[in-house]
This record gives sequence, C-alpha cells and structure tokens, in this order.
Amino acid sequence: MLDYMFSLPTEVHFGSGKTKETGKYAKVLGATNVMIVADKGVINAGLTEDVEASLESASIPYTYYNKIVPNPRDYNVTEGYYVAKDANVDVLVAVGGGSSIDTAKAIGTLLTHGGIIQDWCGAGKLERKITPLIAIPTTAGTGSEVTPFAVVTDSKTHVKLNIFDAKAAPRIALVDPAMLLTIPPHIMAATGIDAMTHAVEAYTCTLAVPHTDAYAIYAVKLIAENLADAVKNRSLDSCTGMMLGSTIAGIAFGYSDVAAVHCMAEALGGLYDLPHGVANAMLLPTVTEYNVTANLKKYADISNAMGLDTAGKSIEDAATMCAGGLQELCKEVGIKAMKEYDEINPADFHELSVAAMANVSTPSNPRKMMVEEYEKLFDKAYYGK
Ligand SMILES: [Fe+2]
Repeated sequence: MLDYMFSLPTEVHFGSGKTKETGKYAKVLGATNVMIVADKGVINAGLTEDVEASLESASIPYTYYNKIVPNPRDYNVTEGYYVAKDANVDVLVAVGGGSSIDTAKAIGTLLTHGGIIQDWCGAGKLERKITPLIAIPTTAGTGSEVTPFAVVTDSKTHVKLNIFDAKAAPRIALVDPAMLLTIPPHIMAATGIDAMTHAVEAYTCTLAVPHTDAYAIYAVKLIAENLADAVKNRSLDSCTGMMLGSTIAGIAFGYSDVAAVHCMAEALGGLYDLPHGVANAMLLPTVTEYNVTANLKKYADISNAMGLDTAGKSIEDAATMCAGGLQELCKEVGIKAMKEYDEINPADFHELSVAAMANVSTPSNPRKMMVEEYEKLFDKAYYGK
C-alpha cells in the first residue's frame, strides 16, 4: 500500500536570463551580506557577471569564495566557512556545477551548526535550516540546485561523505539555460550522463514513488532527446531541454534516491579524483544491464522514453535494450571506456567495492548488492566481461 510524503523545499525559477534577478531574490531572503561561491573557471568565463551586477543594483554587498575544486574536500568547506563568517554573510549564492553548490551547502551547514563538516554528514542530522542559499547551475548534471544532498570528500580517508537533509536544500534555484551556451563539450557530455544516471536510478530504485517516477521518466526523455545535440551543436533549445532534464531529474532523485551506479562512481571519484559525471558514465550501461531483471516494466519504460524501437519486442527484450541505448548515448557524446583511464587500477576493485557497499544508497539498488556483486560489476565495466 502506498504511504509516503513528497515535498519540494526549493523554489525553482526557470528561464533564460533568470540570473539577472539574483539581487531581487537575495532581498526576498533578507540578504545584507552575500557570499558568491564559484570556481575560477566560472568566474573567468563571465558567468558571475550578471549575479554581481544584479546584487550591486540591489545595493547588496558581496564577497567571494572561489577555491572550489571538483570533488570538494572538507578543508575547502572549512576555509569557505571562515571567509563567510568573517564577512557576516547571511545569504549564499552558488554559481557553478555540483562542486560549487555542494560546497555552498556545506558552508551553510557550518555557518548554522558549527563544528566540522563530518559532524553533519549522514541522513537527517541537521538541527535547523542552513544559511539561505540561491543556487545557479552552470552545468546540466548534478541537479544539486534542487536536492537535499551535499557530497564532500574526507581528505584523510578519501571517502565521499553525504549530507542528506531537506534542511540543506537551496531555498531558491535560478535555472537559466543560457548558462550552458559556453561550457566545453566534454563537460556537457559528462554532466549530461550524470543527469541521465539520476533519472534512471531515481526511476528504478527501491525508494521510487509515483511522484518521483513522474519526474524521473520525463527527465529520461528530455535528456535522451537533447544531450547529443547539446554536446555537438549547443542550440538554446537543446540547452533548455538539458537544463530542464537535469533539474527535473534532481527533483526525482532528491526524493527517491540514486543506486549502485552512484555508489560505485562515488567510490571511484573518492579514490582517483575523477569527475563525477565521467565516473557515472563508465558504469551506467553495465550496472543497468545487471539491474534490468529486477523490474522489467520500468526498464522497458526507460527504453520507450529514450525513443528506442521496442515495437513487437517482448518485455524482457524491451527492458534489456535500454542498457545498449545508454551505451550508445555515452559513445555518441564521446565518453571513454573505463579501461582508457590510466589511473584506474583493477587491483583497487576490492577496496572500491567495499567503499561502494558502505554507501548509504546501496540498499536502494533494485537488485541486492554485496561486495562480491560490486567487484563483478567493476570487472565487467573494465574488462567488458
Ligand atoms: Fe550524480
């Protein structure tokens, strides 16, 4: 019997040029001092200029924290926290991909809770809402602008830690497809496959409910229709489709979960510092192929949403097709095979499998996972058998 709660703590404002309204929304949140959290690449590309101009016209002073790295570390969070504390910051504005938005969530956590970030990692540990955060994504991937998660890497153990709490969700997301027009194609590809992984895992995981299904399956369709064009041609239409797909997938997995692909990708990213989207992409087809038997109907739905030709096929065949479809999509957008990454060493697969097993999302995978299953899937993704 269905029995669940679904809520959306983040107010989403979607449209080309929304970034120019940052000052207006910061005022709504009561801002007197803002900290913009963005990496130097985003700043140098001019993607924070509209944010700055908008804050200035609203007469809101701002400071910057720009030492954002992929797979943000605990010490980045601590450093950003002290910058914000010294400037009496009361509203955070994150401009960037998941690393910037997650760093801002973690900084907001320390501003309101104190301690070290490890104290607040885990599910439902926060005692109050974090410092109000406006999230402005510059990639169509993480969905972090609407999720209650922040992933931070422990610099001593190299393990990725998750804050998982609705109190950490951004108050406002300004989702502006024009932000995608200038990002490099390989980043569009990797982040887009991350968004597809969110949609597929949200739809098929054990915590999926009808509300998240509705978001997830539409996100699969949007991403399948738009990713290749966004990588190759970068039209505003395909950027709009990808930004919608990514945010909608974020809503889906924020309230259901991700599953084994993310458990494995986070282990890989923690050990080798691989970009999150790349780590997902090298695993998604293999793990999907393994999971298909757990829910033929839902995987067949994914094949249909991807536009694969399932006419006349049995449900088993229609379901199985989606793994091949995902493999094709990864190839089409230029994702390399796992074996082509020199830093990945099969001797680490046991350690990586133990880390994946410990991930809070392991029980969400549609097929039961143990360390042994993870090892087999790492082998299969690496060796192809
Ligand atoms: Fe992800």
